[in-house]
Amino acid sequence: MRINTKYLTTKDSDLREAAEIIKAGGLVAFPTETVYGLGGDAMNAQSSVKIYKAKGRPSDNPLIVHISEVEDVCRVAGIFPENARKLAEAIWPGPMTMVLPKRPEVPDETTGGLDTVALRCPASDVARKLIEYADTPLAAPSANISGRPSPTRWEHVRSDLDGNIDAVIMGEPCIGGIESTVIDMTLPDSPQILRPGLITPARIGEVLGIACGYDSALEGIPDLQMRPKSPGMKYRHYTPRAEMRLYRGEPEKLRESMSEDARSLRAQGKQVGTIVYEDGRQAAQNLFKDLRQMDDEGMDVILASALDDSEEINYSVMNRMLKAAGYVVKEI
Ligand code: TXA
Ligand code: MG
Repeated sequence: MRINTKYLTTKDSDLREAAEIIKAGGLVAFPTETVYGLGGDAMNAQSSVKIYKAKGRPSDNPLIVHISEVEDVCRVAGIFPENARKLAEAIWPGPMTMVLPKRPEVPDETTGGLDTVALRCPASDVARKLIEYADTPLAAPSANISGRPSPTRWEHVRSDLDGNIDAVIMGEPCIGGIESTVIDMTLPDSPQILRPGLITPARIGEVLGIACGYDSALEGIPDLQMRPKSPGMKYRHYTPRAEMRLYRGEPEKLRESMSEDARSLRAQGKQVGTIVYEDGRQAAQNLFKDLRQMDDEGMDVILASALDDSEEINYSVMNRMLKAAGYVVKEI
C-alpha cells in the first residue's frame, strides 16, 4: 500500500512533527553527517519490522541505534566500559558506531536477534534534535532500498522510498558521504573495526593508546556463507545499475587505458561514465552521489580509477568502490 510521504523542512515545528510520527510508530528519513538514515523508534519492535520492509532488507542485518548524547548509551547498552566511554567522549557526536552488549529492553527485531547493539551519536544537529524530541533512541539504517548506493541527498531518499515511508526531512547534503566506522567494543581492550569509515584505526589508537585493527572479514570477497561479526559485511552493497569497472595502476597509464576502453565501448554504442577522484575525502563525499547520477543518466558502464588504499580514508572508500564494482579490478 502506498502512503503519502510528507516532505518536512529542518525548522523546529517540522522536527517536532517528525518526532510525533516516530512516537506513533512511523518512519522518518533524516540527514546525518554520513548518509541519510531511515529512522524509527528503536525500542518499538513493530517500527523496526517496518524499516526492514520499507528497505527490502534481510532481517538478519541489524540496525544502528542513534542517540543524542553520550549518557544515553546506558538506555540501550547493558555495559558501558571505560574504553568505550573514552571513545564516545573524544569522537561523538561524529561518524563512529560502537557495538556493545545490549539491554534486554532493546527488541530482537532491532538487533537482528543479536545480544549486542550498535550505537551512534550523529554530528548533525537536525538528527540530534529529532532524537531528543522523539525522546527515544532511533533505529536507523541508511535510507536506501537495500542494495542501492546509500543516499547522501534527500532527493536520493525520495527516489528510493517515496510512497513507502511517512516522512522525509529535507536537510543539507551529507558532508561525510560514506557510512560511519563500526567498531566492536565488546572486548574493550581489543577494539576492532567491523566496517571502515572516516574515523580511522589511527584515530582510535590515538584516543585509547592501544592498537586497533580491522576485522579479518574485511579482507577478501564477501559471500552469503560468511558469518562476519557485522552481518552487513556479507552482503554486496552499493551496486549501481550500470556495470562498474575499476582500474588500478600508475596514474598516467591508467588514464590512457581508461580512455581507450571508453572509446571502444562508445564505438559499440554504449553510454560510458568515468570517475576519477583526487583524494579520499572528496571521493567519500561524492562516490554514492556520482553512482546514482550516472544511473539516472542511463550509463551502461562506469569506469573508475581505484584509490591507493594504503592511506586509511582511501581504504574506507575502496571498501565501497570494490563492492560497487563486484570486486573486478583491472591492473594496469
Ligand atoms: O553512518 C551510518 O552508520 C548510517 C547513518 C544513517 O547513521 N547508518 C548505516 O546503517 O549505515 P546500516 O544499517 O546501513 O548499516 C549498519 C551496519 C551493518 O553493516 C550492520 O551489520 C552493522 O552496522 N551492525 C549493526 N548492529 C550490529 C551489531 N550488533 N553487531 C555488529 N554489527 C552490527
Ligand atoms: Mg546501508
